[in-house]
Amino acid sequence: MCGIVGYIGNRQASPIIISGLRRLEYRGYDSAGVCVVDSEKLKINKKAGKVADLENGFDLMALKGTLGVGHTRWATHGVPNDVNAHPHTDMSGSIALIHNGIIENYLTIRKKLVNAGYTFRSETDSEVLAVFIGMLYDTIGDLETSVRTALSEVEGTFGIVVVSTYDPDLLIAARRGSPLILGVGTDEYIVASDAAAIIAHTRQVIYLQENEMAVVRRSGYVTKTIHNEETSGNIEEISFELDQIEKGGFPHFMLKEIYEQPITFRDGFRGRLRIDEGNVRLGGLSKVYEQLSTAKRIIITACGTSWHAALVGEYLIEQLARIPVEVEYASEFRYRNPIINPDDVVIAISQSGETADTLAAIREAKTRGATVLGMVNVVGSSIARETDAGVYIHAGPEIGVASTKAFTSQLCILTQFAVYLGRMRHLSADAGREIAQGLAEIPDHIQTILDQSESIRQIAQQYSGVSNFLYLGRGYNFPVALEGALKLKEISYIHAEGYPAAEMKHGPIALIDENMPVVFIAPKDEIYDKVRSNIEEVRARNGQVIAIASSRDSRISDAANHVIYIPETLPMLTPILASIPLQLLAYFVAVDRGCNVDMPRNLAKSVTVE
Ligand code: M6R
Repeated sequence: MCGIVGYIGNRQASPIIISGLRRLEYRGYDSAGVCVVDSEKLKINKKAGKVADLENGFDLMALKGTLGVGHTRWATHGVPNDVNAHPHTDMSGSIALIHNGIIENYLTIRKKLVNAGYTFRSETDSEVLAVFIGMLYDTIGDLETSVRTALSEVEGTFGIVVVSTYDPDLLIAARRGSPLILGVGTDEYIVASDAAAIIAHTRQVIYLQENEMAVVRRSGYVTKTIHNEETSGNIEEISFELDQIEKGGFPHFMLKEIYEQPITFRDGFRGRLRIDEGNVRLGGLSKVYEQLSTAKRIIITACGTSWHAALVGEYLIEQLARIPVEVEYASEFRYRNPIINPDDVVIAISQSGETADTLAAIREAKTRGATVLGMVNVVGSSIARETDAGVYIHAGPEIGVASTKAFTSQLCILTQFAVYLGRMRHLSADAGREIAQGLAEIPDHIQTILDQSESIRQIAQQYSGVSNFLYLGRGYNFPVALEGALKLKEISYIHAEGYPAAEMKHGPIALIDENMPVVFIAPKDEIYDKVRSNIEEVRARNGQVIAIASSRDSRISDAANHVIYIPETLPMLTPILASIPLQLLAYFVAVDRGCNVDMPRNLAKSVTVE
């Protein structure tokens, strides 16, 4: 979603801001803008479109000044156009603001300002905040106090950076509900919504907390609450390397991330699997061991791909630990007055750790007294910080908007978590050992599937012109059908639906004809014969069957038009392997259709608004 970069130091700000915005492009946006403070005035260039469009007919690098801000906007209030793009200024044109989040009471504030004679150019909630700060400055005469006063009246979420000609040695950043990180360099500071925009300049960062602000000058900074109480502002180190956020020779981040999975999956169990003991060590959960051993119910909450991982987790935990599990869309959870008991454990799964709906769900669960855990990828993210305990999935930075490696890493953690809970209860060491051994073999199996990518590409090319796809699976692989369909629609814009295979006859079967490709996830497991019958039903109606099948399944090619084989593994681990060809299928279809795979239209990598 929106990206923020701000710079104060002794170097020219605009090249640093532009390169930072480019690093944030993956998050998804529809307009961009830069403002540099010259001692006399604000120099602004903003436009609908991409960062590259800012440079059309305008020498951005020629903007001179060592203090500035830049923004990529994902439209919420008002269409993506030049006027609605950030930065926004106050009415005098002396204060510039960039904003992520939503000011919920902006209409009330706007009305107050209009009554006082202030005018607006854009339709955005963000401009209202800029003009409000300007109005307060007119009476207070101090920028920091004006920002704090404005924020104390604001309802909603914000990550803001404010600069002004009134004080060209001052940058103010503040957050509530939208991430902001202050990079601490030598005599320079970079503030950004994502560490990716900072790492090229410094690894030393302060993750601003809720309702915290940073008041930054070239000579130093203070962090404080927006109520003006000083805070400690602990400096931490960025946990990834620069090359992890570069394409490394791949045409797209998504393909790079698909190919990284043998490594990222291994990183998810490294140091955790205890094959000999048939157990798992999850250090991040030690402080909630007691609550986990007595938990009567587990609620997993998440969105999108992470929600699909949660569904697999439900099957795993119920099977191995025999604890009832409920999986909730985070966006629905808090609005339905959920029943939560003190001995319930609520788990949030999130790649970004910043998804607004998931964050709101865990806050709701905490308020109601549950133990709240996180399974998160981004280190230091809001969900990681606000949960009682958790496990990092260690997938490394995921840049492609379509989640791939994070999904398999989430499954890696969920499987280990289910073993961990199971071993606290009735699960035998032998059973634990078999699963641990199975997990340890997965990275090689993933590589075996990746080695078939050329034949998957050929299948994809045959179907890239269709309008609809159906994905069917059962048991552990029903969520994989949902995930396969989501991947395809996100990046290729082909309509796709995932269904439990047996549900087909209750409706979707009406759609089947010779133009309908149906992807079956049909590994050799206890329900294979049932899925096989569903395949026959599709074939009897001339549907085109693409089967994801076990390597020892010699009969499947009789029934399917195309078969993609996955190596043998335990049934509960097949979702991990089956998801790899589905990622590749979606990727190759989208590439063949000429789609922008890494930045699909309308989507954002991290959905930080409700
Ligand atoms: O960062 P999160 O895992 O919380 O994000 C949740 C969803 O927004 C995300 O999975 C989304 O569905 C992706 N675009 C899936 O590819």
